[in-house]
Amino acid sequence: MKSIGLDTSGKMIVKGPQKASGVLTVSGSKNAVLPIMGASLLTDEDVELKNVPDLADVRTMIEILESSGKKIDRIEDRLIIKSSGYINSEIPYEPVRKMRASFNVYGPLTLRKGFAKVALPGGCSIGARPVDFHLDGLRRLGIESTIEHGFVTSKLTDIMGSINISLPFPSVGATEHVLTTACLLEGVKTTITNCAIEPEVTDLVNFLNRMGAKIFGAGSSILKIEGVKKLSGISYNIIPDRIEAGTYIILGKLAGENLTIKNVSADHLNSLFSIFENIGSPILYDDIKREVTVTKANFDILKNISMETSPFPGFPTDLQPQITTFLSLVPGRSTITETVFKSRFYHIDELNRMGAKIRVEDNTAIIEGVNKLSGAPVEATDLRAAAALLIAGLVAEGETVITNVDHIFRGYENIHEKLENVGIDLVYLK
Ligand code: EPZ
Repeated sequence: MKSIGLDTSGKMIVKGPQKASGVLTVSGSKNAVLPIMGASLLTDEDVELKNVPDLADVRTMIEILESSGKKIDRIEDRLIIKSSGYINSEIPYEPVRKMRASFNVYGPLTLRKGFAKVALPGGCSIGARPVDFHLDGLRRLGIESTIEHGFVTSKLTDIMGSINISLPFPSVGATEHVLTTACLLEGVKTTITNCAIEPEVTDLVNFLNRMGAKIFGAGSSILKIEGVKKLSGISYNIIPDRIEAGTYIILGKLAGENLTIKNVSADHLNSLFSIFENIGSPILYDDIKREVTVTKANFDILKNISMETSPFPGFPTDLQPQITTFLSLVPGRSTITETVFKSRFYHIDELNRMGAKIRVEDNTAIIEGVNKLSGAPVEATDLRAAAALLIAGLVAEGETVITNVDHIFRGYENIHEKLENVGIDLVYLK
């Protein structure tokens, strides 16, 4: 497997149909480890993170933390984050531009240095991705921001007493950014309502509380934080990646033959399990071993459905492209409404190129089930679209060539090796 690149290039060639059988192990969660890495800026003591996936986005976050003065070593799946004695709060443009999650260092760096300068995160193919909820929440915490020349610059002002912040939408990133920053505002009591309750947010809350933060309400949409003076370094184990797990479960329902997927937290994937029950192809979960074994569904007996994505515990938007691939082969008309992002349908033109029959009206994909897909040249537009197209290529008849496929390495650790280990034959060209 060649080195992981973030430049949107790379080509994957897959001949279908293929069968996946054997054992796949899910890695640590990308969307948990990224905000936790950002939160390590709140202490100068050593932080050890375990079960950290080796992904392009994690490498970008390492680059950002190192430019802020951290020294980071990776030993297998562990990251050791140490302080170098100085803190730089002006982060280079490029790494933040290419990965939105890196914006969440802005609040912590402002607290540590009194000011910070970080690039405005770029939009991407799933929407504008603004940060107004972040900046409004941080302003309530005393962080004034100015935006110019593509950078956001902050100034820390004194605040005291109790602050109440209500998020206009349960934004994962804004919840994480505001709660992380509020932890170190000594003597300030902050209440955040309408918080996101994704498992990755709860993992961040647990991490911060282990460091000595005082956050109450983990897992609920109301978080109460009592700011403390200091946070300590700890060792912490990252939760498994529910989106990677869900992606491989959907792959198994399309091309699996007793495909066992290990490291699955069912309580993080109830919405996916219930969709497959409604479709008529239930997933059997072994809660002792924390794994599922899936086999290609019998499409003749499947029922079409109408569904929507929504914030946790609803169906995750990050599995929407992948389940759309699955529904494209379910007899009858299914619909999926995307309620989290304004335009997360760029994979649909590509699936139609492979013989799917899907049209988009407003924020709803209307899917007429077809009895087969055919291989075709297609282009990936983001990491979840890339995964959806790869799954489609595994079940389509003929050769599929996916260009711009390097997106997939942002969120799927060792995907080439993992799929080869379950009998999938695919070619990757840098
Ligand atoms: C996180 O992104 C995830 N990324 C995304 O996963 C995921 O799709 C998303 O949450 C929703 O679950 C990480 O955790 C690193 P949001 P985030 O703020 O925080 C709007 C993947 O594939 N909004 O919950 O950026 C926004 O435009 C990635 O792994 C504002 O308007 O998502 C969107 O429509 C893709 N203003 C909605 O809220 C703001 O200030 C939800 O976004 C912030 C968000």
